Amino acid sequence: MRFLVSASCRAMSAAVQGRPRGLVYEKHGEPDRVVQLKDVSLPELGASGVHVRMLAAPINPSDINMIQGSYAVVPDFPAVGGNEGVGQVVQIGSNVTSLKPGDLVIPADAGLGTWRTEAVFEEEKLLKMPPDIPLLSAATLGVNPCTAFRMLSDFVTLKPGDAVIQNAANSGAGQAVIQIAAAKGIKTINVVRDRPNLQELVDRLKSLGADHVITEEALRKPETKDLLQKIPKPLLALDAVGGKSATEMLRHLQYKGTMVTYGGMSKQPVTIPMSALIFKDIRLRGFWMTQWKRDNAQNKEKLSGMIAELCTLIQKGQLTAPACHEVPLADYQLALKASMTPYVTAKQILRM
Ligand SMILES: NC(=O)c1ccc[n+]([C@@H]2O[C@H](COP(=O)([O-])OP(=O)(O)OC[C@H]3O[C@@H](n4cnc5c(N)ncnc54)[C@H](OP(=O)(O)O)[C@@H]3O)[C@@H](O)[C@H]2O)c1
Repeated sequence: MRFLVSASCRAMSAAVQGRPRGLVYEKHGEPDRVVQLKDVSLPELGASGVHVRMLAAPINPSDINMIQGSYAVVPDFPAVGGNEGVGQVVQIGSNVTSLKPGDLVIPADAGLGTWRTEAVFEEEKLLKMPPDIPLLSAATLGVNPCTAFRMLSDFVTLKPGDAVIQNAANSGAGQAVIQIAAAKGIKTINVVRDRPNLQELVDRLKSLGADHVITEEALRKPETKDLLQKIPKPLLALDAVGGKSATEMLRHLQYKGTMVTYGGMSKQPVTIPMSALIFKDIRLRGFWMTQWKRDNAQNKEKLSGMIAELCTLIQKGQLTAPACHEVPLADYQLALKASMTPYVTAKQILRM
C-alpha cells in the first residue's frame, strides 16, 4: 500500500513542472508596484506536511488590502499573496491521515499565500473537497460563501418568506448571499451601483434567485418603498459598502432589525440617523470570517460542517461560483488591475 502511494506521488511530482513560483511582495504598497512573480522556496515536507500543487486562486479585496497594509492582519515579509484557492495534493508526510495524493484541497484558514504554483502546507491548514466540486467553486468557497452562510445564520432567525437587504449585491459575497438565501426560501433585496449594462446585471442576479435588484440611486427614491412592499420588510441588512449606501439600507429595515457590516468598499464611515436607533431600535453588528475561524478553532466540526453544507448546495446546483475571469499567473498584473477596477463584476482567478 505504501508503495502504491509513493508510486502515485512520483507520478504527480512529475506533473509539477518547473521551479515553484509565486506572487511575492516584500513591502506594502500598491499591488502593481510591489507584487512580483518570483521563484519561491519549498520547505521540507516534514511528517505533517502536505505538498500541494495550486490550481486556481482568486484575487479578493482583502488580498489587495493586505498588500496595501490596510487590513487587520498583515503578513511577515517576504510574503506570498492570496488567502484562498484550490490545489491538488502531490505528496503527504508520514503522519498525514486525512489526505492522499490526488485530493483537492482548500485552505482552512487565511494567510497561507495561495498565489503560487506549489507549496507545502500543514495538514491541519487544509480542507479536503469532494472530487465533484467544480474547480472555480472550490477556489472561491472558503471566503465569500462561508461569510454569506454565517451572516444569514448567526445574527437573526430567518424563516422562509423573511427578507434580507444587501448592498454590493453583485460582489462575490453578494452572489453567495442571493443563492444561499434563495435555497432557504429567504427573499433578497439586492442593491447595486448603476452602470450602462444594468439590465444585464439585473437579469444575471435574478437568474441566481434575487427577488429585487435596485440601484443605490433608486433605493433613495420614495416610490421604491411601494415596490418593496410586495415582500416583508427586511429583518437583516448586509453591508459591504458603508457610507450613504449603509444609511439608505437602514431606512428599509424592520423595527428591531439588524445591520451587519462586513466590508467597507466605499471607504466611508457608516452614519446612523438617531431615529434609526431611537424609534426603530436598529441593532448594528459586524462580522469577520477570520475572527469566526479563530473563535471556533477548537470546534473543527463547525467549519467542516459548514463546508459540507455549502458543498451540498453546490452539488445540487443551488450555489455556483461567482462570475469569474480566469487569468494565467504570468498575467498577474492584468488580473490585479482588473480586480481593482469598478463595475467589472467578475472575480479575477489566477490559474497556475
Ligand atoms: N468580513 C469578512 O469576513 C468578509 C468576507 C468576505 C468579504 N468581505 C468584504 O466584502 C466585500 C466584498 O468582497 P467580495 O470578494 O465579494 O468583492 P468583489 O467580488 O471583488 O466585489 C466588489 C464589490 O464591491 C463593489 N464596490 C466597489 N467599490 C464600491 C464603492 N465605492 N461603492 C459601492 N460598491 C463598491 C463592487 O461593485 P461595482 O460592480 O459597482 O464596482 C462589487 O460589488 C469586500 O469589502 C470584502 O473585503 C468581508
